[in-house]
Amino acid sequence: MDKIVIEGGKRLVGTVKMSGAKNAVLPVLAATLLTEGRNVIDNVPEVRDVLTMIKLLEALGTEVENYSNEKIILDTSKVNNSEAPYDLVSTMRASCMVLGPLLARLGKARVSLPGGCAIGARPIDLHIKGLQAMGAKVWLEQGYVHGEVDLLKGISFYFDTVSVTGTANLMMAAVLAEGETILENVAKEPEVVFLADILNLAGAKISGQGTDIIKIQGTTALKPIECAIFPDRIETGTYMIAAAITQGDVTIENCIPQHLEPITLKLQEAQVDIEVEKNKMRIIGKGPIRAVNARTHPYPGFPTDIQAQFMALMTLAQGQSIIMETVFENRFMHVAELKRMGANIALDGHTAIISGVKGLSGAQLMATDLRASASLVLAALAAKGESVISRIYHIDRGYVSMEEKLSNLGAQIHRLK
Ligand code: EPZ
Repeated sequence: MDKIVIEGGKRLVGTVKMSGAKNAVLPVLAATLLTEGRNVIDNVPEVRDVLTMIKLLEALGTEVENYSNEKIILDTSKVNNSEAPYDLVSTMRASCMVLGPLLARLGKARVSLPGGCAIGARPIDLHIKGLQAMGAKVWLEQGYVHGEVDLLKGISFYFDTVSVTGTANLMMAAVLAEGETILENVAKEPEVVFLADILNLAGAKISGQGTDIIKIQGTTALKPIECAIFPDRIETGTYMIAAAITQGDVTIENCIPQHLEPITLKLQEAQVDIEVEKNKMRIIGKGPIRAVNARTHPYPGFPTDIQAQFMALMTLAQGQSIIMETVFENRFMHVAELKRMGANIALDGHTAIISGVKGLSGAQLMATDLRASASLVLAALAAKGESVISRIYHIDRGYVSMEEKLSNLGAQIHRLK
């Protein structure tokens, strides 16, 4: 298994371009199942989760005409298989987003239940409850979710927990349902808004995206999807913190600053200098980082996907910071590894109390999940000496060419095959 080796202590300086958003392209790929034709998706990040989703779509009968330099052309006119195999779904929870489109398109689905993952049980009970409310017969058998329906019916459904992929799944199912669907307490993430906008361009009738209530008027067919994926806000936040933790001076191009507001405000509170322009930001770390508190929350709150990275920064801040993880039940897998580098962190349930230390030291580290791995890379960039991070396939799931981007900014980083 590959490892990443980092010699810490180098300031990051220069310019880096963000790639397309992983969590925007995955639902859009699932949505192509709702169409019967040639879908063209541009600015697709070349990450493992996208490859997994493409393999899944091929297993369902999609023909991938082209997948090169970040452009995918896939023909969904011959989609005929409704079974999403275990070996694909088990590696990526987002595969559950084919449930809604398959029921809407074929009237049946057999999707392996996603296993839990390092950050929590991650059930899909709300996805299932919503599809059942729309008239589908949905049951669990041998680790698979089975679904059958003649025609999905528009309903009113209230999410008792805000769910990003749950909102996407039910919105996609509702697009081809009969009548109006009202979804309440929905996710307001930009990726959900993007999906709704792209579906509307293909002929759907969705309104309210970005608010607590989304309304969908069912229609009979969609045109093929054509779109370019917007920049990844979590990748952007990760590089903002990379600049701050190395006291660097980094300009991040091809990003959407307003998607990053909660992080920008927190970093400014921590005395990091941030200049915001239309589609780029300049992050200048100068002088000591001040300890600030953070509490994760669904968008537009502080994103749980940046919590681990932000904690890495706080380990070197002056003072004590308190970070609360309110979205997932077990998203502190990075804490033990950061402590092995010399960080001073105490855990109390979903709360981490971080007392800043003068410096971290490099160590042998193990990645556990996608964003925890990013946190370890950030800490290693600032640590004294060499760090070796194993199981970095977690990073490859969601970050495009991380070591190239970081070494172009002056980091001393390379991959050990
Ligand atoms: C999406 O996951 C993202 N993944 C996650 O990013 C992100 O951390 C998460 O949203 C929260 O923002 C993709 O978009 C592919 P949820 P998702 O359903 O949709 C509970 C990354 O690093 N819940 O919003 O799976 C759930 O257990 C990944 O890129 C239920 O209880 O998350 C969690 O506690 C990690 N029942 C909370 O809701 C359900 O039916 C939020 O989960 C669904 C969710």
